[in-house]
Amino acid sequence: MTHPELIPGLAGIPAAESSISFINGLEGLLSYRGIRIEELSAQSHYEEVCWLLWNGELPTQAQLDQFKLRLRPHRELNADLKKFVRGLPQSGHPMEALQASMATLGMVSPGVDLKSADSRLDACERVLGAMGTLIASCERHRQGLDLVEPDPELSVAANFLYCLNGERPDEIKTRVLDCALVLHAEHTMNASTFACRVVASTETSPYTAVSAAVGSLFGPLHGGANERVLRQLESIGGKENVEAWVDKKMAAKEKIMGFGHRVYKTKDPRAHDLQKLAGQLFETHGSTPLYDTALELERIVTDRLGDRGIYPNVDFFSGIVYQKLGIPTDVFTPIFALSRTAGWLAHWMEQMEDNKLFRPGQIYTGRKDVHYVPMAQR
Ligand SMILES: CC(C)(COP(=O)(O)OP(=O)(O)OC[C@H]1O[C@@H](n2cnc3c(N)ncnc32)[C@H](O)[C@@H]1OP(=O)(O)O)[C@@H](O)C(=O)NCCC(=O)NCCS
Repeated sequence: MTHPELIPGLAGIPAAESSISFINGLEGLLSYRGIRIEELSAQSHYEEVCWLLWNGELPTQAQLDQFKLRLRPHRELNADLKKFVRGLPQSGHPMEALQASMATLGMVSPGVDLKSADSRLDACERVLGAMGTLIASCERHRQGLDLVEPDPELSVAANFLYCLNGERPDEIKTRVLDCALVLHAEHTMNASTFACRVVASTETSPYTAVSAAVGSLFGPLHGGANERVLRQLESIGGKENVEAWVDKKMAAKEKIMGFGHRVYKTKDPRAHDLQKLAGQLFETHGSTPLYDTALELERIVTDRLGDRGIYPNVDFFSGIVYQKLGIPTDVFTPIFALSRTAGWLAHWMEQMEDNKLFRPGQIYTGRKDVHYVPMAQR
């Protein structure tokens, strides 16, 4: 039996004071620095949202231009890092490659003076700048393709698609990915953000803290859901099979991927915007049987489970959208990492401003007063 003082998973226990983001699950509200996500996804873009998360305010045009200029050179991977990426095994998952290469980025970057605000910011910009190129380069290496040099003129979203596919994306593709990056950039104290803050609290660099956060995001209980949504849609086998498939799932009391959320008990506010953009993307670039299946699944599941607070979450649409953008299924979680880097780094900075080493307690359940038994007597 669980000890009465133990809260498994620290569920609901505040781990920090934070002014970065806020969620009200009952009202379906998410805000970054007080601004609702719907306003940001409709009017802002990823780089501006990064600035907002890091600085607490929207930038002026001059501040934003300067920020974008400073990120540009960091997109390019240095020669040692490229050599490292080209030497990675082609087996394994892209998140493993990302975790390893993020730690390596720290090895080829200037040391961070944690007492200097400029040095801290410089390190964060290096992490954010390199993230997209790193993910795309690891993936191209895995596919046996040459790496694509980043284009400094492009936005984070467009440059990522360019480095991944070797083609400059059109406006709607860029807009859709940019919106997905905005929607996933920050989400309060989840497992990967907590991991980032715990590592930060030992006074280590953002390279190590973000690499730990990437490891934490990799698990299927956290970042891996959109990958599973896509596999589920493929397994349904067409729009006409949806109703019977849902009946079978419900009869077996099995969960339907992409629906429900631990915090949101109404439609995930991020799902609205992504659904709208998905509609535009499929209208411009042609629908697919998978998208038609998804729309039918959304209709039937919302009809059957909506009154129990089970609605599509952001992952329901992101997988379908990423596939349409030409992104391989197991690169979906790395895109989540690309986006969430903004939030992780905001938390790294916040932790550094008023740091206290994390050192939780435990409830000991082992034996006491046991004596060592020499090998010959065991
Ligand atoms: C995200 C999730 C873990 C949140 O769960 P939660 O709020 O803790 O709710 P629970 O898992 O305790 O489920 C509560 C009830 O709703 C049902 N339910 C929750 N999500 C469901 C889903 N996706 N499909 C069908 N039923 C679901 C459960 O079966 C349970 O029913 P019961 O009370 O009859 O046993 C859960 O909704 C889920 O597993 N969803 C699918 C995976 C997914 O899309 N994850 C991405 C999250 S961003």
